[in-house]
Amino acid sequence: MSTTFKDDVAVPPGLSADRIVDIDIYSPPGREKDFYAAWKTLQDNSPPIVWTSRNEGHWIALSGEVLAAVQGDPERFSNRIIVIPRSVGEKHALIPTTIDPPEHRPYRRLLNDGLSLSKIRHLHTAIASVADELIGGFVGFGRCDFTAEFARLFPIRIFMSLVALPMADADRLCFLAECMTRPNPPLPFEDAKQAFYAFLAPVVAERRGGSGEDIISAIVNADINGRKLSDEEALSLCTQLLIAGVDTVVNVLAFIMLELARDPALQERLAGLTRSGLLAATNELFRRFGFVTIARTVREDMEFHGVHLKAGDLVCVPTQVHGLDERINACPLSIDLDRRGARHSAFGSGPHMCPGQELARAEVAIMLERWFAAIPRFHVGADADLRNLAGIVPQIARLTLEWDVLPMPSHDGQGAIEELA
Ligand code: HEM
Repeated sequence: MSTTFKDDVAVPPGLSADRIVDIDIYSPPGREKDFYAAWKTLQDNSPPIVWTSRNEGHWIALSGEVLAAVQGDPERFSNRIIVIPRSVGEKHALIPTTIDPPEHRPYRRLLNDGLSLSKIRHLHTAIASVADELIGGFVGFGRCDFTAEFARLFPIRIFMSLVALPMADADRLCFLAECMTRPNPPLPFEDAKQAFYAFLAPVVAERRGGSGEDIISAIVNADINGRKLSDEEALSLCTQLLIAGVDTVVNVLAFIMLELARDPALQERLAGLTRSGLLAATNELFRRFGFVTIARTVREDMEFHGVHLKAGDLVCVPTQVHGLDERINACPLSIDLDRRGARHSAFGSGPHMCPGQELARAEVAIMLERWFAAIPRFHVGADADLRNLAGIVPQIARLTLEWDVLPMPSHDGQGAIEELA
């Protein structure tokens, strides 16, 4: 996110100095080296809610308790503006993310049904074969550009299965998704959204009245409040699915694989787990690597955790700080697969809590299962560029990975090395 928005907004009157920080939420100090350490340092050294005049002025919830209280309370905190700065957030309107309950509920039911655990279980085989195909493309080379050759390709292909669109269009949709989620895109957000609408409009028309089992068919043929969704509503919902479901997975995979590449003991532990063990382990991985930085809009003037909030103020909810809060999870920077009931907000909380979390967990768990089956041990590549780039979702510039290539079995089933000996 660019830092060229008008800053220098007045500090709320009477606010004590310890409640004021000079922080760009898309680039807290130290972010480039380690996004998580940067947020943890800010959390450790600040009160639970603070003010910054950067990015047109807003509050930041920094303790896990305050973050969850803001995010989970639609009576006091609206979703009308969830992107900071305000001038950008005001233009960002998508169903169901920027709608509050009760209007939000019927749309949400559609997504809950379309992304339910049982629907996602049906995708497991497709997820595994996409992972196998991508890994098969580079396993024999002993190295890969994980960002370009795996992470960018994997979730968009699964998304194409979810919405039953041809794989041939995956690159184009991936480009549009990136334009709608990454800072300073080649195509502005609104143009990318219109291009996606233009691409999808004929699909929506064709699937109306049909009996398809994909999520677009479910959306266009569902009844809400006794009527069908309009084309505009269906397109908006599908756009939100694309925005929310691709860039997030691309980048969480990179953060997880970087951590693993640096920690052989963790690799060994995860490699020994079954698929259901890996699915359970994703809770700790998401706790450690939550990363969506969004906001809520204050509905009415109120006293809140020692500060006076005014109607219309924005409160930033950096979801990563909840899982990193020492008061909630001991030794939060460590990954402890034996941690029980770890609390976090990687998927948000309250009515907007991520409906795609079962899919996200399945993508991470099955990807790890297939990866370890082909590449039991790996480390960071010599040419990796590990800078953390800014955004509503942060990014590792370029993660490359390396491993020893296993000898190919010879025709009589004996290892090649044995044959040479
Ligand atoms: C790394 C993976 C993911 C993370 C960390 C993540 C995180 C989040 C968070 C924090 C929210 C709450 C936003 C708010 O409170 O305003 C959210 C909402 C949402 N997510 Fe995810 N998400 C992920 C993957 C997915 C996937 C795979 C899909 C579906 C394909 C998806 C679909 C959605 C949708 C549609 C919403 C909006 C829900 C609403 O406003 O009611 N997400 N996600």
